[in-house]
Amino acid sequence: MTSETPVLSFEAASKLGKVAAVDTSRVLIAVENAALLPRAAVGSLVAIQGSTAQEFLIGMTERVTRQLREQTAQPDPMVPTTLEVEVVPDDALRVTLLGTYRSVDGTVRNRFKRGADSFPQIDRDCFLIEGGNLQRFMGLLGKELDDKQRLELGTFVLDQTAAAIANGDKFFQRHASILGSTGSGKSWCVSLILERASARKHSNIIVFDMHGEYASLAKPPATSGSVAPTAIASQFKIAGPGDLDKPPANALFLPYWLLNREEMLSMILDRSDQNAPNQASRFTSHVRTLKEAALGTAHADVKATFTVDSPIPYKLADLLAHLTTDNTTKGVGKNGPVKGDWEDKLTRFITRLEAKAEDRRYGFMFKPPAAALEYDWLAKQVLSLLSPGASKHGIKIVDFSEVPSDVLPVVAGVFARLLYDVQFWMEPEKRTPFVFVCDEAHLYLPVKEDADAVEKQALYCFERIAKEGRKYGVSLLVVSQRPSDVSRTILSQCNNFLILRLTNDQDQNVVRRLMPDSLASVLDGLPLLDTGEALLLGDAILLPARIRLNMPKIAPLSQTRDFWREWGEREPDGAAVKAAVETLRRQSRGFIAGV
Ligand SMILES: Nc1ncnc2c1ncn2[C@@H]1O[C@H](COP(=O)(O)OP(=O)(O)OP(=O)(O)O)[C@@H](O)[C@H]1O
Ligand SMILES: [Mg+2]
Repeated sequence: MTSETPVLSFEAASKLGKVAAVDTSRVLIAVENAALLPRAAVGSLVAIQGSTAQEFLIGMTERVTRQLREQTAQPDPMVPTTLEVEVVPDDALRVTLLGTYRSVDGTVRNRFKRGADSFPQIDRDCFLIEGGNLQRFMGLLGKELDDKQRLELGTFVLDQTAAAIANGDKFFQRHASILGSTGSGKSWCVSLILERASARKHSNIIVFDMHGEYASLAKPPATSGSVAPTAIASQFKIAGPGDLDKPPANALFLPYWLLNREEMLSMILDRSDQNAPNQASRFTSHVRTLKEAALGTAHADVKATFTVDSPIPYKLADLLAHLTTDNTTKGVGKNGPVKGDWEDKLTRFITRLEAKAEDRRYGFMFKPPAAALEYDWLAKQVLSLLSPGASKHGIKIVDFSEVPSDVLPVVAGVFARLLYDVQFWMEPEKRTPFVFVCDEAHLYLPVKEDADAVEKQALYCFERIAKEGRKYGVSLLVVSQRPSDVSRTILSQCNNFLILRLTNDQDQNVVRRLMPDSLASVLDGLPLLDTGEALLLGDAILLPARIRLNMPKIAPLSQTRDFWREWGEREPDGAAVKAAVETLRRQSRGFIAGV
């Protein structure tokens, strides 16, 4: 086929029928060729002759119906007494319009664009797109993408020989989402996208790994006998209780001084305490003073404009000392000492702060190494994440698996906010875009009404990125098995969706509400998708399509276990159980060494 040959060409015999009714996005086709009806399934593509011979409107079948109708058979004029009734079929297809194909469009041959340019007219001819037409048409979908934009995700279910190629720019530009029930293949899909991104010379992706399951991308396991494939990512880890004394090179700390006032208070302050306003105001005042003192004369320019929220290191012990002084100082009255302004009002606040500071699980925040109290430390840490140098990987897996769940949202939020703020304050022409992959997003991006103070902080950061990130080249890839528990604000900002098998009603409803009405019937198939199959919807692809995702070369460590088979083959490992009990006590899994 040359580029001059029309992609779609139909013979009279393949004519399905005619347009019988039209509304804004749907068309009813009266099927005349009853033999073709069984070949039309829900999801098959139909071409409707457009206003010129070169134009076809393309639609997807939503409903196929055959109604039987009784009609009076032609009475035999020679035998006037016979009146016979015969049963005839009324066949119809209901189709959603998706796009317009033109074999000649100005100087361009064979162009498909999304959206119907005109409404189909009654009685126009309709054809089923199948066989050679289908193959050529699917091939057309990714044709206009150049090599720099192609993000190959799998093959189309409609035509398995055609690669499903998304526009990589559009996929990331305005946030994307991967949704599907547990075990439907989301993490594998993330690995696949990371693998594709790793082929770009300067990819820049930060993965929030809640279970340490993407560790394999940084250290691929060798499969029996063969050499391990090359790593495509670097691994970082939010420092766990076991990493505090001798932090490995890839341990990340988020010292308390990085948190802004609200984030810190969301963790420490009990808003129901009657002294909460006093506690918050003393805290704010002392932090400001300590930060100012830390700036000294060396950073006079920063000192002129900094705020209490600026990330400037100060010592936690100093803060505690100031608060304790407030809490114990008596006031001076006319007749000797009186109750001080803050005396005894900060006790609970101090206790809560001390309890957090002592707990090793929060060590990544309250027990940072001495170096993390130096002024230059922040720039170094951010550099290792955003600009690690050409010899290192552009994909950074950040393991959050040892972060306590009660502060997980704030930690994820602070982490994202920090990098986003750096991008925000950077010279616009020097920014390189980056993506946050938020796996298990329901854990830290919950629906607003349900959010507690800590979660609200995380939501605020991520919702800001969802709303404004596009302008600064920061994008989210939200991954979740419970879309109904994920912030609607964030999901509704996503422009591209990969939706895998989704069985729960509530979750399906959320997804339906995110999609235009015309796709309702496409979404009806969600519970029926096979593992590794997905609907790809959004502006990264010209046609909403059911695709079979490719397998990543390196699988994440999330393999579904074969219970029945394993029970027949493997004895539980006693030593491993014993070791796990100790790990539980240590609260450090310690299987992630420096990368
Ligand atoms: N593209 C694929 N083709 C074939 N099998 C797949 C594919 N993707 C995933 N699977 C299978 O599905 C299993 C589960 O996949 P995965 O870990 O990605 O699920 P998940 O959706 O991330 O689940 P969870 O929400 O629990 O994290 C894998 O162990 C793998 O065997
Ligand atoms: Mg997963």
